[in-house]
Amino acid sequence: MKVKDRVAIITGSGSGIGEGIAKKLAECGAKVVINDIDSAKVERVAGEIRAAGGEATAIAADITKIADVQSMFKKIVEQYGRVDILVNNAGVARDKSLKKLTEEDWDVVLNVNLKGMFLCCKVAADYMREQNYGRIVNISSRAWLGGIGQSNYSASKGGVVSLTRSLALELGRKGITANCIAPGLIDTPLWQALSEEVRGRLIEKQPTRTVGSINDIANGVLFFTGDEAGYVSGQTIFICGGRSLFAG
Ligand SMILES: NC(=O)c1ccc[n+]([C@@H]2O[C@H](COP(=O)([O-])OP(=O)(O)OC[C@H]3O[C@@H](n4cnc5c(N)ncnc54)[C@H](O)[C@@H]3O)[C@@H](O)[C@H]2O)c1
Repeated sequence: MKVKDRVAIITGSGSGIGEGIAKKLAECGAKVVINDIDSAKVERVAGEIRAAGGEATAIAADITKIADVQSMFKKIVEQYGRVDILVNNAGVARDKSLKKLTEEDWDVVLNVNLKGMFLCCKVAADYMREQNYGRIVNISSRAWLGGIGQSNYSASKGGVVSLTRSLALELGRKGITANCIAPGLIDTPLWQALSEEVRGRLIEKQPTRTVGSINDIANGVLFFTGDEAGYVSGQTIFICGGRSLFAG
């Protein structure tokens, strides 16, 4: 998949899955912009990419704030002249039963996972329309299908799928595609923090009996962002070892 010399911004790429996506795109020759709310994290990841011979710029910004988002995209376009790829990866979770879930838990999760994504899409699309080219990839979750103790997270990730479909319909004529990835269990620090017993129980439910890697998600993003994927839009791909095939 060709992303060489494309300018790509990955939100929340100061750690975890976003970091893996940024490193994969950089390895494939893209010029990557590392965004996160945490400035130490963006400097570290951008530094590591540059040390490995890639091109990376660090921009700390809070994607829930329109002024931050506007100034971030302005900086990208001032530096590179364009923005080809937007990967909306930043996300948070506050899983609790409906009984315990507070208004604040709802607002925080919906603000980052959905409003922040909307703001980045809105501002990026203004530049992408001008170029007649763009690739937007939004990170949802298998949990958009529903999850016990995840009503806020699940609603936000379902919103991501709906937002993506609307973007595909609205922006397609301007050479912009929008697609979604819904990861399942992924080997991140969150996974490693679970007890062996809980991990064993979760793996039992996986048709593949495996947990996915960050690289599995990065490969999916690479497919959607490549020049060759121009005829693929509005789609959601589950990368979850087949776990999306049944509920519960
Ligand atoms: N880890 C999994 O198993 C898994 C499964 C399904 C979906 N996902 C989704 O994948 C994405 C990445 O997850 P992860 O596990 O790598 O999480 P992570 O916590 O390691 O990374 C998320 C990053 O987003 C940043 N962030 C939070 N709020 C922000 C804001 N307002 N502005 C900018 N950056 C902000 C955080 O600082 C953090 O570095 C999330 O959208 C998550 O919902 C993860």
